[in-house]
Amino acid sequence: MDAVIRAHAARVRAADPLVAGQDELRGAGDGSLEARDAVGRTSVERIDLDSMRAAWSPLVLHRLQARVAGPDPAAALGALLDRWLAGLRLDEPGQALTVSWPSRDTTPLRALAVRNFAPIVAQAVRPLTAGPATALGVRRATMGDLETVARLYERLVAYDAQFGWVAVRPSTPSRIREFLATEVLPTEWCWLAEPDGEAVGCVIVQPPAHSTWIARSVHTAPLAYLSVLYVEPSARGRGVGALLTGVAHGHAAAQGVRTMTLHHALPNPLSTPFWTRRGYRPLFTQWVRHLGP
Ligand SMILES: CC(C)(COP(=O)(O)OP(=O)(O)OC[C@H]1O[C@@H](n2cnc3c(N)ncnc32)[C@H](O)[C@@H]1OP(=O)(O)O)[C@@H](O)C(=O)NCCC(=O)NCCS
Repeated sequence: MDAVIRAHAARVRAADPLVAGQDELRGAGDGSLEARDAVGRTSVERIDLDSMRAAWSPLVLHRLQARVAGPDPAAALGALLDRWLAGLRLDEPGQALTVSWPSRDTTPLRALAVRNFAPIVAQAVRPLTAGPATALGVRRATMGDLETVARLYERLVAYDAQFGWVAVRPSTPSRIREFLATEVLPTEWCWLAEPDGEAVGCVIVQPPAHSTWIARSVHTAPLAYLSVLYVEPSARGRGVGALLTGVAHGHAAAQGVRTMTLHHALPNPLSTPFWTRRGYRPLFTQWVRHLGP
């Protein structure tokens, strides 16, 4: 088992030295799996329909952490996936399978594709360099902007929901407002764009102290997490998104952040090219399979 994990970590390190955390299986998990040249840990997460988390994924998540080695990593991953799939109890609605994989470690990926897993979300990263932390028409949001930011946030969730992983739940509007009031506006970094005096876009960044949950996936520090970027349809394509992103990058760099990370839906035709143009590249790809609507 240790030899498989060591060989897996070495292969991933050669493919992408920025990826961290591949030299162990994390967390307690619900079960262990083994196949030839493969080890894994499985878990099931049931997400409360009334929670903020419920907006960001299906409600029952079957997760596999896998480490594979040997001359044919795709065959090793395939055998592990087959063991996992054979042992699943799939009798609840709203279930989905999810496997996160280092994006540049491509040799095992065919095993996921031929089992009907699809890449849905990328965790992307970019290094930060110093730049302007302010811009004309962009200002820091305050508690008085709660309703404005909440409306933009709601529209982001609705836009992302089109790609099938995110969902607008009945509780989503009130959870967003609570989250903004208790976490984002008092403790995180949030800016509004008002190019003509009216707010048409926002960006939210979790500072390093709030980004520890994702920092362990990346080999550089300090790291911050860009959680939200949204621009109203009527204001798109005029540089507002780029301006907001520039301010967020400049502020974070001035606070000592060296790397920014974020998630975006891979089928999103606006965000995927936008983030690439802003200097981001994929670090992890989340492969998923829905089990019913
Ligand atoms: C993704 C999103 C935030 C981009 O915002 P935007 O304000 O349209 O982005 P920009 O205008 O800065 O950039 C988009 C394109 O507009 C054009 N553009 C940029 N600056 C411009 C300017 N000054 N004048 C005219 N066009 C310009 C460029 O073609 C640019 O593409 P580039 O990357 O090649 O420079 C926006 O499309 C959006 O809110 N989408 C829905 C929600 C979403 O996907 N959010 C991201 C979730 S991760």
